[in-house]
Amino acid sequence: MKDPRFFQNIRPEELADTYATPLYVYNERVFRTRCREMKNLVTYPNFTVHYSVKANSNLTLLKIAREEGLHVDAMSPGEIYVEEKAGFLPEEIFYISNNVSIEEMAYAVERGICVSLDSISQLRRFAAHFPGASVSLRINTGIGAGHSEKVVTGGKKTKFAIPEDQLNEAVKICREASLRLKALNQHIGSFFLDGEIYLEGVKALLAAAEKVPGLELIDLGGGFGMPYDEKTQKRLDLSSLGRSLDQLFADFSKKYAALYPESNGKEISFAIEPGRYISAESCVLLGRVHAIKENAGHLYCGTDIGFNVLMRPVLYDSYHKIETWPVRENAPVLSYTVVGNICESGDILAKDRELPQMEENDLVIVCDAGAYGYSMASNYNNRLRPAEVLIGEDDQVRLIRRRDTLEDLVRGFES
Ligand code: LLP
Repeated sequence: MKDPRFFQNIRPEELADTYATPLYVYNERVFRTRCREMKNLVTYPNFTVHYSVKANSNLTLLKIAREEGLHVDAMSPGEIYVEEKAGFLPEEIFYISNNVSIEEMAYAVERGICVSLDSISQLRRFAAHFPGASVSLRINTGIGAGHSEKVVTGGKKTKFAIPEDQLNEAVKICREASLRLKALNQHIGSFFLDGEIYLEGVKALLAAAEKVPGLELIDLGGGFGMPYDEKTQKRLDLSSLGRSLDQLFADFSKKYAALYPESNGKEISFAIEPGRYISAESCVLLGRVHAIKENAGHLYCGTDIGFNVLMRPVLYDSYHKIETWPVRENAPVLSYTVVGNICESGDILAKDRELPQMEENDLVIVCDAGAYGYSMASNYNNRLRPAEVLIGEDDQVRLIRRRDTLEDLVRGFES
């Protein structure tokens, strides 16, 4: 493990034998620590963390996030539904919509959940159906970041957000439909380890916000990264980022109150939307080695972790550290291509990875699998999505989601 304390006093093979593999294993202590780090990012008092549950929406984890005082964002009625099940109140949920139907908008509005709109087209439709409702506008200030082009959401090549030069028009539409424009939000993309790009985005958003009266909230988005590869990636410097944000918040709120004295000195609120930072490191994925073979000089380690279980390496070429179990001192290090059991040659978890020599029935431990792991898992090849277990602060292991069953695969078919 990146941190040997991850399993507390539990042996990985005990978990694999009891719950079978593949298996997502979470550590409550790590999850809570990350929640607290985000909550304490700044000292500015009106500050909320909207946990971005698309990274991981396990109900038990959501309940823990709520206990830690986090709010949530949502990308779909399904996410809203699960968040309500976890106990979040409408005012603790922020619906960041993108190309949604009127029915989906209504699902949020009827519950009293604030909706963020991200195009003039959607805003006009929203205004026609829900005059007087509260809204937020998602703005593209031209700044983007991310570990892959596929997850950059600011700048010129993206379907997301209202380009800043259309902001005046959007504000006018809100005014004419008596919409209560109470927030501006932004998300520049997913994954940065250098706070500078985020701060650049924040400054651009604040400059845009100065032109919009009546705001109560400015939501800066997520994207906070963590090191998947400790050898090449440094941890994000949260204290330096927090200090810079604090300064920007204080300066802005003073300026905004002076510009719009009708807010009666009510301090503006700020929010962030971290997903990955909160859940990624709280989880490892256990898999079993079922075959070792050589083809044309390449050594393959065949496991039960297909890309239906963890999609990130196939979709984005993402790196996840892999450790092996049992630990064999003095085993020679070999170069393996670690693969899954899906019927595609691209089903590769790690290419040419140096690992201690493995045997059939060994375990692989895929690190930092808690964000966009289970939440992107599928039933491709009619494989069963894995179970999830939580190692509690009390050292007890709890099943927090059962593995799919074969019956689940035919649920919804007419008989
Ligand atoms: N807010 C909005 C509006 C988002 O679209 C996202 C992520 C977040 C917040 C949270 O971003 P985070 O803090 O987790 O970076 N599947 C990809 C990541 C896709 C991110 C989508 N949006 C991956 O596995 O890397």
